[in-house]
Amino acid sequence: MRYITFALAKGRLAKKSLEIFEQMGITCEEMKDEKSRKLIFTNEELGYRFFLAKASDVPTYVEYGAADIGIVGRDTILEEGRKIYEVVDLGIGRCRMCVAGPKEAEEKLKHHELIRVATKYPNIAKDYFYNQKHQTVEIIKLHGSIELAPIVGLSEVIVDIVETGSTLRENGLVVLEEVCDLSARMVVNPVSMKMENERISRIIEDLTKICQEQQK
Ligand code: PRP
Repeated sequence: MRYITFALAKGRLAKKSLEIFEQMGITCEEMKDEKSRKLIFTNEELGYRFFLAKASDVPTYVEYGAADIGIVGRDTILEEGRKIYEVVDLGIGRCRMCVAGPKEAEEKLKHHELIRVATKYPNIAKDYFYNQKHQTVEIIKLHGSIELAPIVGLSEVIVDIVETGSTLRENGLVVLEEVCDLSARMVVNPVSMKMENERISRIIEDLTKICQEQQK
């Protein structure tokens, strides 16, 4: 039997997705050892392989078929724009992609002034401002602590993830516009979907059932 390979986005999401897999009877004891430096784990009995990767690399592994299945946030899927199927909303890691900034930036946004937008997600920001709002802006790519940008005068607004809203609140910023809802998704390589249809459809079915139950 050929292995079905899962790529999981490292961090909080991986831990939660493994808990969900466990409820489906998909276990990987080896992976729970947080001290281990091993990168890939197998469940020989079920013919599954798991590895942890940086979130932004998960869609790449899945597009090229190095992983059949990926578990990753919708933010990363949208930003990477890879040729992969998005098949299940796990309903975990729910948050929103927003345009945020100081309250004063609201007027500038409204009047389509040429503003600067700092973000870790330049493709999502471009799509939102250029294709959906037909507004010209200057996009500046950053790699973290995005909320700093409007505070120190690098940009007027940011496009970033808002979960509890506390990072914005503690820095005197507010949500100005909502771009889209986000949560963790299961993605599949299109060729794997055909070649391993039976096994992957079963995983999709079981995962959908468990996620629906959890959201009740
Ligand atoms: C994310 C995001 C916001 C924060 C939002 O950052 O970029 O900064 O979480 O969460 P909140 O609404 O609950 O405050 P993350 O912690 O991933 O780190 P980063 O600054 O490196 O992006």
